[in-house]
Amino acid sequence: MEFNAIKGFKDILPEEVENWQYLDLAFRRLFNAFGFHEIKTPLLEKNEVFSRSIGQDTDIVSKEMYSLQDTRGQVITLRPEATASVVRAYIQHRLYEKNPVQKLYSIGPMFRRERPQKGRFRQFYQINAELIGDPGPKSDADIIAMAVYLFETIGLGGLILNLNSLGCPICRSDFRDELKEYLEQKKGLLCEDCQRRSETNPLRVFDCKLDECRNIVSDAPSILEFLCANCKEHFESLQRYLKSLNITYILNHKLVRGLDYYTRTTFEIQTEQLGAQNAIAGGGRYDGLVNLLGGPDHPAIGFAIGVERVIALLEEKKLMQMKTPDLFIAALGEPAEIISFNWIMDLRKSGIRVETDYGAKSLKAQMKRADRLGAKNVLIIGDDELASSKAVFRNMATKEQQELNIENILDNIRKVLNYDGK
Ligand code: HAM
Repeated sequence: MEFNAIKGFKDILPEEVENWQYLDLAFRRLFNAFGFHEIKTPLLEKNEVFSRSIGQDTDIVSKEMYSLQDTRGQVITLRPEATASVVRAYIQHRLYEKNPVQKLYSIGPMFRRERPQKGRFRQFYQINAELIGDPGPKSDADIIAMAVYLFETIGLGGLILNLNSLGCPICRSDFRDELKEYLEQKKGLLCEDCQRRSETNPLRVFDCKLDECRNIVSDAPSILEFLCANCKEHFESLQRYLKSLNITYILNHKLVRGLDYYTRTTFEIQTEQLGAQNAIAGGGRYDGLVNLLGGPDHPAIGFAIGVERVIALLEEKKLMQMKTPDLFIAALGEPAEIISFNWIMDLRKSGIRVETDYGAKSLKAQMKRADRLGAKNVLIIGDDELASSKAVFRNMATKEQQELNIENILDNIRKVLNYDGK
């Protein structure tokens, strides 16, 4: 019997993992520069943490969550996103008492039972950043700039930043009424879900993936025309900050994002290269969520990056290469194997990536293996080399060879590898 991974769940194989590590490292460096600290929350939470935060009428809560009842009858849910969990932890541990502005990031898998397709999985990884405790708009600009720079640091350009404001509960309510009225006139043309949503939560009609509903919302009224004076000033000030940083964006009044907790600023970073699943990061302000989950009235803003989509982009653009050995030691005969085995360990301990063969194979077979591993250099050592106290060092790219003295061999290797001990 053969087992395969569950549909929508995928293995990340070693050569791909190297790309993930590269991303992880680059992003952590930037998070550090922006003053963000890592937080790790559990994969499972009480169901209400998500249903309350994200909203009953959203696709995520109504169709996509993996929930189960434990033996005590409590419904627990595999996290479909990280924001609700981070906010739950922020409240539970009163993080605000230590520092009124908390900047937190987290990296890990999320679970949504969506229809799998290119760039869409049922288990996928997010890199998530949340700034809790500041009302903006400077912090909005800080978060958005960080998202943009995260992509820049890994060499991804040509991305499109979409920006919108959903207003506050007061001005949003005027917009909701107007939208409801508009949708009422087109009700017969909407899908069954959207007919219901047009009454209960009309903003969610914007999330529908069906063409007939998309066509209808394309002519819907714009939230930007309903912003109250404070929300308008907040949004304009954010744009002044972005412009001062030369960050370009497109205003997109249909960007309501698929979660109910958003207020004011929303944004999404998109690419034209991944087909339908073109959002590689999305986020926004959620000024009411901390309070909604039982905490103080603290504003917040954040975003999440979809790791699989970013990796796919990097691979498509051939921006990353698998790490290869700095050195392959081809040893021939037991005396050479034993002595070079010791060199290998010492070099590895100093951080140099060294490979060798485990079987006593011919030089030809070992060179073939070094080539297959992509080794940058090969050191050849056999009985003759031991007798003359000189090993052969070959640069695999230039094919140049030189002899290295076996006395002080480790220093000699480090020197030719330009290894400075860092
Ligand atoms: P989201 O837009 O639902 O926002 O997800 C953020 C990103 O996760 C998307 O832009 C996409 O790249 C990736 N993503 C979402 N679903 C999938 C999937 N099924 N397969 C692969 N990638 C996916 C949130 O989750 C919010 N919590 C973001 C946020 C943080 N807002 C404020 N703070």
